[in-house]
Amino acid sequence: MRLGLGTGSTVEHFLLALAARLRRGELEGLVGVATSRRTEERARALGLPLAELPAVGELDLAVDGADEVDPNLNLIKGGGGALLREKMVAQAARRFVVIVDEGKLVTRLGTRGPLPVEVIPFAWEVHLPFLRALGARPVLRRVGDGTPFVTDNGHFVLDCTFPGGVPDPDGLEERLARRAGIVESGLFVGLAREVWVGSVHGVRCLLSSSGGAGGGR
Ligand code: A5P
Repeated sequence: MRLGLGTGSTVEHFLLALAARLRRGELEGLVGVATSRRTEERARALGLPLAELPAVGELDLAVDGADEVDPNLNLIKGGGGALLREKMVAQAARRFVVIVDEGKLVTRLGTRGPLPVEVIPFAWEVHLPFLRALGARPVLRRVGDGTPFVTDNGHFVLDCTFPGGVPDPDGLEERLARRAGIVESGLFVGLAREVWVGSVHGVRCLLSSSGGAGGGR
């Protein structure tokens, strides 16, 4: 199995479970593709076999977390800054499974936290008025010492708060995609068909009839 490995604290549990099954000899022929340097390092430390995306081409499955999941299974991702590689891996997968706890379920995207927007460092400030005109309150993500957070791809992240949430995720994604200098946003529209939700009562699976990964977008 060619398996996309997401990023984040929820995926950490998945990596541990995967490594345990591998050690027990329950998985054969597994090769993982990491969505971030952080996941790559964790996977290596856990002894999970890794490959680069171009070397494997299509993935059988990708498993990742999310910051928010709406009733149509549209997502906000990128709290950890790995949104670009996460979206590339999700789009390369025939099956994309999202794992979250129930606190991530929202009625409207953008109501729990900001939407991360990855931009090239060149003249990043020019996107602030553009994003404000779309209803956002953008803030450059910074690390502890005050310098800009830099993604694995050498880009900056503008965390965009939408008071009242994102009314039209599809339309917003299109507007952002048309803007030069904006590389990607954390909106995952129509990509997830399957969301596994963990709670103290157990695990349930949410399925969407529309959408789905596999390079459909
Ligand atoms: C990483 O950039 C993100 O997209 C994560 O997948 C998302 O933030 C979920 O992370 P947690 O599982 O840590 O909440």
